[in-house]
Amino acid sequence: MKILLENIRQLVQVEDKARTWVSGKEMGSLRVLEDAFLVIDDDQIETFGPMKDFNENLVEGADMVMEIDCAGKIVMPGYCDSHTHVVFPASREQEFVDRINGLTYEEIARRGGGILNSAKRMEQRSEDELFADAMVRLDEVKRMGTTAIEIKSGYGLSMESELKMLRVIKRLKANSPMIIKSTFLGAHALPVEYKADRQKYIKLLIEEMLPEIDREGLADYMDVFCDQGFFTVEETAQLLEAGWKYDLQPKIHANELGLTGGVQVGVKHQALSVDHLEHIGDDEIKALLASKTMPTVLPGAAFFLGMPLSPIREMIEAGLPIALASDYNPGSSPSGNMNFIQSLACIKYKMTPEEAINACTINSAYAMGVEKIAGTICSGKQANLFITRELPSYSAISYYFGANPVETVIINGEIY
Ligand code: NIG
Ligand code: FE
Repeated sequence: MKILLENIRQLVQVEDKARTWVSGKEMGSLRVLEDAFLVIDDDQIETFGPMKDFNENLVEGADMVMEIDCAGKIVMPGYCDSHTHVVFPASREQEFVDRINGLTYEEIARRGGGILNSAKRMEQRSEDELFADAMVRLDEVKRMGTTAIEIKSGYGLSMESELKMLRVIKRLKANSPMIIKSTFLGAHALPVEYKADRQKYIKLLIEEMLPEIDREGLADYMDVFCDQGFFTVEETAQLLEAGWKYDLQPKIHANELGLTGGVQVGVKHQALSVDHLEHIGDDEIKALLASKTMPTVLPGAAFFLGMPLSPIREMIEAGLPIALASDYNPGSSPSGNMNFIQSLACIKYKMTPEEAINACTINSAYAMGVEKIAGTICSGKQANLFITRELPSYSAISYYFGANPVETVIINGEIY
């Protein structure tokens, strides 16, 4: 079957040849076709172009052609959300209220709230319950245009619970049409019982969890929360080296709470991405410029926790690429709406809509290792895209903050 999208007001993020990412000044330009068509053949993007070049031969020979009139609408590649924690046992709105009343995120964590609170509840949730809840969340973000998503473990913090989370992610991969990548984040927080012997927990991660994760093929990437009050640079290095032995490339949480050396240790261990980056100095920028690591900013977490904003303008002006992700999780960013992430990027970080779109598509595709099959409208890539309601231009996506402009989502050539 072929699907023909016709009369598209703007076909956004098109390319003739797949690129890896865009950086620096290039982030400000976006290739857009006005009044365009696009042909999907089975599960792939076949071809596209201006309406005036369309001819019936392009869809001839197909057993069936489904035509969708996109007059007045925008068509974009589906968002790639390269950093989430959508498998979680329960919401944590009590901590949200505690923060309104004056406690800080770090104070809540020190009292056994935060990640440890989620870990406690994780023990009580069955694999089936976790799977059902996460499927609902995937459905929710799919309706908002996300077609590829990375999901982390890290609310388990014990052999049993971490494996349970990762098995849930494996089931999500098998049951959701979305592109899903799985990341092992056993080093998300130190369980209280290891306070006196940190190495004992690290050994558990390295010597017991990693071999089993490898045996069951449960993870694509390795994450560590390298930050003040969580894991040190030395511990992070130890964990990332161990992960590489199982071919798990790092994608780490870094520099959220301070200038801790997280970026440098990530770059040194060939991280695919370093994420958060509220605290960035010249040394971090220099290290990133000399690397293939994607700096990833999570505006939802900074917004929700009232944290300082990453210096995105400075980073782009220095020539860096930027990816954006939702960080969807119950503690620091309880939303997976990538349209809102773009609004935050434009309004708070002064990214242009072109930069924000590049950061949520091609660059975030790279940050989760799917840039060859997703992230742009390119012939031969997977047909993962969305059609908006009628909008005057792609800038209206970030302008209408908080809304969902997405009307139709297509994944692998299937219409949702
Ligand atoms: O990315 N910073 C570390 N981890 C998560 C938050 C986890 C939580 O509070 O549940 C994050 O913000
Ligand atoms: Fe996170």
